[in-house]
Amino acid sequence: MTQSLKGRSVVVTGGSKGIGKGISRVFALSGAKVAIIARHLDQAEAAAAEIGHGAFGVVGDVTSLASIESAFGTVAGRNGGIDVLCANAGIFPQARLEDMTSKQWDEVVDTNLKGTFHAVKAVVPYLKRSDQGRIVLTSSITGPVTGFPGWSHYGATKAGQLGFMRTACIELAKYGITVNAVMPGNIITEGLVGLGDDYQKTMAASVPLKRLGTVEDIGYAALYFASKEAGYVTGQTIIVDGGQILPESLEALA
Ligand SMILES: NC(=O)c1ccc[n+]([C@@H]2O[C@H](COP(=O)([O-])OP(=O)(O)OC[C@H]3O[C@@H](n4cnc5c(N)ncnc54)[C@H](OP(=O)(O)O)[C@@H]3O)[C@@H](O)[C@H]2O)c1
Repeated sequence: MTQSLKGRSVVVTGGSKGIGKGISRVFALSGAKVAIIARHLDQAEAAAAEIGHGAFGVVGDVTSLASIESAFGTVAGRNGGIDVLCANAGIFPQARLEDMTSKQWDEVVDTNLKGTFHAVKAVVPYLKRSDQGRIVLTSSITGPVTGFPGWSHYGATKAGQLGFMRTACIELAKYGITVNAVMPGNIITEGLVGLGDDYQKTMAASVPLKRLGTVEDIGYAALYFASKEAGYVTGQTIIVDGGQILPESLEALA
């Protein structure tokens, strides 16, 4: 595993639960100084305490540029700067197109897409001063590659993140900052565990590797993009889904 995250200042938006917590854990175990951002400070602090290795929680809401600027200011003050942003905060409420309200659409876009823009914009001044400036987005297979009923708004934001990335990485290249994205498949998080074993088994059956992903599976992919070794990789995506998008039909899985 790369040693290049040792002592680096890393912020993870949405790091208090699920994939963000997995990313935070993997980076902390790699020696990074990890700051976990979430709207609920108590949950961010609880996740940081569980992870240990000097991780700490900071309150921040990616839907507000001022809130996220303030959070990053706190992190930079405490860690002496910021080297890596994992822009991971996201929501996925389901609503079928015919029932979806404009407000529901806006909520998902404001968090997932505008929130990505806010986090990236707010971190650039810090990354410009780093010699290992890295931005890693958490996108999804849903939207860029696949679809799922109830997630037209969500899928649009996850595909939108990749469109955003492809211009952001060009604009930020002059500072040596890279921007890449991880595209998770179905990952076991606290929310999914609550849906029960049968649900998980059905989901796993559609995956060639016959299991759902772990949050650490995503963390290791993010770690690669953030590493010194990935310094010449920008504007790229990696799908981490156990092969889920590949079968042409159910027969292909038999
Ligand atoms: N789980 C999957 O299978 C899967 C698959 C593909 C992609 N993803 C992507 O992975 C990311 C994380 O998903 P997850 O399943 O791990 O979600 P999760 O378990 O629900 O956790 C979401 C995290 O985001 C934070 N958050 C939500 N809204 C926020 C806001 N406005 N500002 C700051 N933080 C906010 C939450 O904390 P607070 O509520 O305290 O703010 C929490 O820490 C999302 O971008 C999602 O699209 C997930």
